[in-house]
Parts: sequence; structure tokens; C-alpha cells
Amino acid sequence: MKRIGIYDSGLGGLTVLRELQRQLPQEPVLYFGDTARVPYGHRSAAELLTFGREILTWMGEQGVKMVLVACNTSSALVLEQLQQEFPWPILGLILPGARAAVASGRRIGVLATAATVASGAYPRAIREACPQAGVWQVPCPELVPLIEQGRTQTPAARQILHGYLAPLLNVQVDTVIYGCTHYPLLDDLMAALLPPQVRRIDPATALVRAAAQELDLLGLKHHGATGGVRFGVSGSPHRFGQLAQRWLGSMPPVEAITLPTVQPQELPVRD
Ligand code: DGL
Repeated sequence: MKRIGIYDSGLGGLTVLRELQRQLPQEPVLYFGDTARVPYGHRSAAELLTFGREILTWMGEQGVKMVLVACNTSSALVLEQLQQEFPWPILGLILPGARAAVASGRRIGVLATAATVASGAYPRAIREACPQAGVWQVPCPELVPLIEQGRTQTPAARQILHGYLAPLLNVQVDTVIYGCTHYPLLDDLMAALLPPQVRRIDPATALVRAAAQELDLLGLKHHGATGGVRFGVSGSPHRFGQLAQRWLGSMPPVEAITLPTVQPQELPVRD
């Protein structure tokens, strides 16, 4: 039984898993959280490429038929390179997120990690899909640590998020993209702080729709009994299980994984 691989730096990929289980509940999943190296949001492309190669090499050994890069930062910086190096379909979040946003509005705010913002990947993809769209980005370096420390329901979380949303409210965006897979875990707070007419886009919805189409096209859909989820992390399995419980409803079994070592290589320069 081949699985769909999902990876992220930590808990963020759970928002992609949740969407996958909603749209494709029968698919077997292999989830990897790189919790020993979280956060990814300030990493260089070279580091993210090495991490991605290690994770995908391991996933290949376990038997995967497709991989969802459930991390916007890796999707923005190294998706194309990974797609060239591994044999199965590998899908990322930027294009599905950009397309969903232009279907929603013309004044688009992007909340993302510092590295995703600096890459310019969302503004590029949004303008390609709709040249008239206005795009405003806000780097949110404090949100991933808040979420990974389980501090989402604190006054500090509200105050920090309020500060990040202020520049977007000033320019009256009509749409906000969750440009990091951790941020949908703050959706309740976002909904409370944003005016009701501002639409909140979780790129995972469109990503999983694209994945479903690709599975159909390639004849790779899982038929039969539900495949279940296998969880692995590079850090503490117990800690991940405890934190994930809140979002999954029950505490999953989690394996400690030692990733294969991949020689670091330069990111090839493209014309
Ligand atoms: N959840 C990932 C993303 O979508 C990584 C965030 C982080 O580790 O900083 O960008």
C-alpha cells in the first residue's frame, strides 16, 4: 500500500492532513514533522533543499506515491528542484493558494514566514494569475513559535496577531491568504480580528483538490479500507503527540525517525 507523503517543519502540516482527510478520507498518509529543526521560516534555500532531500529520500524508502509539501516556505523556495529530483508527483501550496485568492478578491493580503515573504513567490503567482490584483505581504515570525509551544489561546497570541493584521486592515484587503500552514490553526482568532467581509484563504483546500485530480489522472487513488496515518518526527514523538492531540482529537502514535544523510549541495543556478 503506497501512501501520500505530507511534510512540514512541525504541526503546520496537520492543516493539510485535515483537508486531505476531509476530501480524500480513504487515502493512506505518511506524515513527517521536522520538529528537531522547526522553524523553517528563516532558513535558506540551500538548507531547505537539504532537509527536503532527506525527508523525500526517507519517504521513498517507506513507499509513497505522491508528496504534498505542506510547508509554504519549502514550496516557495525549493519545490521545483525537488520535483526534478524525485520520481513521484510533488505538489506545493503557492500556486493553489494564489489561484484561490484571485478567485476571491483583488486586494490580497499574504501572511507568511520571513523567507516566504522574501522569496516573492506569492506576489509573483498572484500577479501571474491576475495582473490587476494588489498584493500586500506581512512576515509573521512570532506565530510559528507560538503555535509550536501550544500558546495559541493566550492574550499574547491575540496581541501579536493584531499587530500583524494592522497593516492589512489599513489598506483594506478583501482577502487574506494563510501563507504558512501553521496559521489556519489560529483561524478562530483571525476570524475574531478580521472584519467579516474579509475572506480567509487556506491554500490547503485547493492543494488537496489538485492532488485529488492528479491521483485520478494517474490512476493512483486508493480503493478499499481507510489507509490511516503513520506519523514520524525528527524531534520528540511524545511532545508532538501531545500537541497534535489538540488538533486531531486524540493522541496519535508517533515514531522517532532518523533521516538518511544527504550530502549538502548547492542549489543549481537557473537562467
Ligand atoms: N508551516 C511552514 C510554512 O508553511 C513552516 C513554518 C516554519 O517552520 O517557520 O511555511
